[in-house]
Amino acid sequence: MVEIGFGSGLNVPFYPATVKGIAAVEPADIGWKLARKRLAATEVPVERSGLDGQSLPFPDNSFDTALSTWTMCTIPDLDAALSELRRVLKPGGELHFVEHGLAPDEEVRRWQHRVEPMQKRLFGGCHLTRPIVDLLKNAGFTVRDLDEFYEEGAPKIMGADSLGVAVSP
Ligand SMILES: C[S@@+](CC[C@H](N)C(=O)[O-])C[C@H]1O[C@@H](n2cnc3c(N)ncnc32)[C@H](O)[C@@H]1O
Repeated sequence: MVEIGFGSGLNVPFYPATVKGIAAVEPADIGWKLARKRLAATEVPVERSGLDGQSLPFPDNSFDTALSTWTMCTIPDLDAALSELRRVLKPGGELHFVEHGLAPDEEVRRWQHRVEPMQKRLFGGCHLTRPIVDLLKNAGFTVRDLDEFYEEGAPKIMGADSLGVAVSP
């Protein structure tokens, strides 16, 4: 499985036993330092295999599954990253995702557009207004098992989440 935006490995304890190995793609060295304990505690082999989701160093059709959690907000050229995921996933391969993005409500969207320029500067390029599911569909994925909700405890402008599976054709 390939995970883009591995961060500090917060997903590591939740990898199912069926996962044979993880090719982790993460530009930030600090993430790897913070992931050390989680990596030591897992049976799943995890290898830092790439630095940029926009340009994946893997051959076409090399993975059955991909994972992205709260990463699509930050990648500068998300279309490029989705196209790369399409390329490296086998036909029928699944991208499991949970991401924040454009809210379903107009009032919240208005605030997202207002705050986004500051958000990007303060939080490493994090966008608030990306329509994640539309972007996945535009990239050619079919989206299933979709759940859209506001994250409990988060401001609505930052916590409009989409959780689901995007299937590569
Ligand atoms: C909000 S964090 C989420 C980290 C992790 N997925 C999680 O759920 O805890 C976003 C991550 O995306 C990474 N990132 C930023 N640009 C990236 C890129 N071009 N390719 C891959 N990952 C990137 C950041 O370094 C950061 O670790």
